[in-house]
Amino acid sequence: MNVGIASIGSYIPARRVSNEELSKTVDTSDEWIRSHTGIGNRHIASDEETCSYMATEAAKEALDKAGVDKNEVDQIIVATITPDYRDFPATANLVQRNLGIGNIGSIDVKAACTGFVYGLELGRGLILGGTAKTVVVIGAEKLSAITNWNDRGTAVLFGDGAGAAVLTSCADGEGIVDSVLRTDGTGYDALNIPAGGTATPFIPGETPEEDLCIYMDGQRVYNFAVKVNVEIVKDLMERNGLTSDDIDYIVPHQANYRIIRAASMRARIPMEKYYLNMEEFANTSSASVPLALAEMDRKELLKKGMKILTVGFGGGLTYGGNYLVW
Ligand SMILES: CC(C)(COP(=O)(O)OP(=O)(O)OC[C@H]1O[C@@H](n2cnc3c(N)ncnc32)[C@H](O)[C@@H]1OP(=O)(O)O)[C@@H](O)C(=O)NCCC(=O)NCCS
Repeated sequence: MNVGIASIGSYIPARRVSNEELSKTVDTSDEWIRSHTGIGNRHIASDEETCSYMATEAAKEALDKAGVDKNEVDQIIVATITPDYRDFPATANLVQRNLGIGNIGSIDVKAACTGFVYGLELGRGLILGGTAKTVVVIGAEKLSAITNWNDRGTAVLFGDGAGAAVLTSCADGEGIVDSVLRTDGTGYDALNIPAGGTATPFIPGETPEEDLCIYMDGQRVYNFAVKVNVEIVKDLMERNGLTSDDIDYIVPHQANYRIIRAASMRARIPMEKYYLNMEEFANTSSASVPLALAEMDRKELLKKGMKILTVGFGGGLTYGGNYLVW
């Protein structure tokens, strides 16, 4: 027996902000954003569209599509770095409340843009270990709430949304066949929120507002991202006796077109194998891989037996990937 994705759902805020619209308030241009990132639009959540709201809506759609009753769910895992409440309660707790199901476990995973990749493997482990039969894994982010809108180096990159997968048991050789989960904690300061945690507590009147928003050393993150994209794809292929010809799709974290193009050239894997949708949704951190899978599902691109690699990379610095047989 193994564990696989029975269905995948998503939630995307209706408000769509184009590069042109953003250029009215941020010192940038459509030309710069497109040429440096491949991003054309992002969807921005309203005040009512909290992280837990978007996560719940994505979960409902996934449960509906799988034909799984909500009362069959044993565990909810939410991957997010933009929880409704800063440290606790977990956003997964609020999703459990919103769904109105009791007697189950719920926990958040904080692995930044690798969060959903981690979540899938953790969910798989819970089912294989016998703790759960049905797990909902959600990647949900409201990055607009932690974006420094005065920093053009980061303000143009991010968007909001959520994607969710229902995990259930499946036949051996199908589903989530393998995962690699990695971290380089020495890079903790390349991409983070500098203040507000216990290392640098928030002091009213003293803590600069921008230190409570995303900070990024773009070049350092870029170099890391290209390197680990190649590493994860190669390791997953080697561990599973695959060549790039065997792979139907690589679904990377949707950070930046240039990162993926550089990784594709280094790994000698054609760009056509990479599924990209950052043009529409920008970088949605934990939500980006499930949002891409959900879009592929809607377009009926995912066929039974297809071999798919996911790749996550981001703050932490975390990275990893899953080998899925659909
Ligand atoms: C952010 C990133 C696109 C910046 O690209 P870059 O080529 O490194 O650009 P630089 O930061 O060197 O800036 C080059 C110039 O563009 C300017 N610039 C930066 N952001 C800009 C923007 N949004 N609009 C217009 N100009 C901008 C800079 O001020 C700089 O101007 P200067 O030369 O006059 O000083 C790139 O570093 C990157 O992709 N990093 C990884 C980001 C990422 O994906 N993070 C998430 C991973 S999970």
